[in-house]
Amino acid sequence: MAIKEHKITMLGTGLIGMFYTMALHNQRGRDRVHMIYSRNEEKAKQFAKDWDIPRWTTNMSEAIYDSETDVVVIGIPNYLHKEAVLTAAKAGKAILCTKPLARNAAEAKEMLDIVEKAGVFAGYLEDLIYPPKTLKSLESVRSGAIGKVNWCRSRETHSGPHSDWFWDNEKAGGGAIIDLGCHCIEISRNFIGKNIRPVEVMCWADTLVHPIDAEDHGVGLVRYENRSVGQFEVSWGFQGGMDLRDEVSGSEGTIWLNHFMRTGFEMFTTGAKGGYVSEKSGSDVGWLFPVGDEAHEMGYINMFQDMFNAIDENREPIETFYDGYIVNAIMDACYNSVKSKKWEPVNLAVWRGETQTKEKNDVDKLIDGQYFLIKEERMPDGQIKLILKDKNSGKITQKYITEE
Ligand SMILES: NC(=O)c1ccc[n+]([C@@H]2O[C@H](COP(=O)([O-])OP(=O)(O)OC[C@H]3O[C@@H](n4cnc5c(N)ncnc54)[C@H](O)[C@@H]3O)[C@@H](O)[C@H]2O)c1
Repeated sequence: MAIKEHKITMLGTGLIGMFYTMALHNQRGRDRVHMIYSRNEEKAKQFAKDWDIPRWTTNMSEAIYDSETDVVVIGIPNYLHKEAVLTAAKAGKAILCTKPLARNAAEAKEMLDIVEKAGVFAGYLEDLIYPPKTLKSLESVRSGAIGKVNWCRSRETHSGPHSDWFWDNEKAGGGAIIDLGCHCIEISRNFIGKNIRPVEVMCWADTLVHPIDAEDHGVGLVRYENRSVGQFEVSWGFQGGMDLRDEVSGSEGTIWLNHFMRTGFEMFTTGAKGGYVSEKSGSDVGWLFPVGDEAHEMGYINMFQDMFNAIDENREPIETFYDGYIVNAIMDACYNSVKSKKWEPVNLAVWRGETQTKEKNDVDKLIDGQYFLIKEERMPDGQIKLILKDKNSGKITQKYITEE
């Protein structure tokens, strides 16, 4: 592969603009932000100075059309993603857009159509597929180490976002589900298999803590065509830091991932000297859970490596605008289910995965030609106990085996 150096237009100087720039300029990185856009002149100038960025502007179009940059990274609020994509596609630039892709599936579909029509590279910046632990777990799942994934549970909770626009239903497209659920849904999709069609959704959401219209809590079940289930749990009312955990339960094994708290790094301080611990840590006194290399552990480093390698290799990245669209469609079904209190279908105007996936349970282990093995367990006395189901009558019995 011929490695190229890319010059980037970064849109946004907020939290994610800063993390993205930190990740890109990490370890003397060759792909660098060359033009920074912020609507606020002081912020733009300061950001350019802090990160050694040659150019800044308060004009989004000027930033996108910069003649020296070939990639546009979108790190501005959700309601501005579509406009940024439209302009960047017209400018013929490669586009990398943060999560959620859009506020709803209709908007996401428009964005997908825009980039495909323009024929430009488009990557969906879902960083939580890329933490080193997650990439390795996905490899294990794909190699069959934990059998068929039946259930994936993904949780992201913290005390609520850091800027006004997140709390505005219209600007964000929803509350905790659109903000955090998008991560959890795509994590489960990756573990269950992105080729497997999400079929229907049951979701509860409520506004329990904050005086807002959008939901600040949500729990959802996404059922897939192979009968696997993705479960997400999100909250903007969780105290104690940022809780980011995934559990993958397969027919032959289990994976537990803890990304942000209790990662093996725990520290106590009386508060003699406070300061930043990690994103939304909630406290800088007492027992703390700092995160070693936040940009890496959140997946930003591997994510940009995949995105820029994909551009150079003329291939799709792991996460595409199409994936972002599927996630938005699942979240639309969640909001429908919250209202109806029923299972709601995931309506997909475009589906590029398997059609009519067969149930892939490999649980039917036949013994002696007569019994299905339900369970095998070694008991405290050392004997092995089998729970069996008669193939013909369906009767359930148990049997002991004594090892010689
Ligand atoms: N892990 C992740 O992938 C992750 C984490 C945080 C945020 N995000 C996403 O990144 C995007 C930005 O979030 P953030 O946390 O950086 O928000 P933020 O509020 O910290 O920063 C937003 C940036 O956009 C600018 N902005 C706000 N309103 C604007 C307007 N009307 N016109 C032009 N610029 C405007 C702000 O000045 C700021 O530079 C959102 O889509 C969010 O969902 C992703």
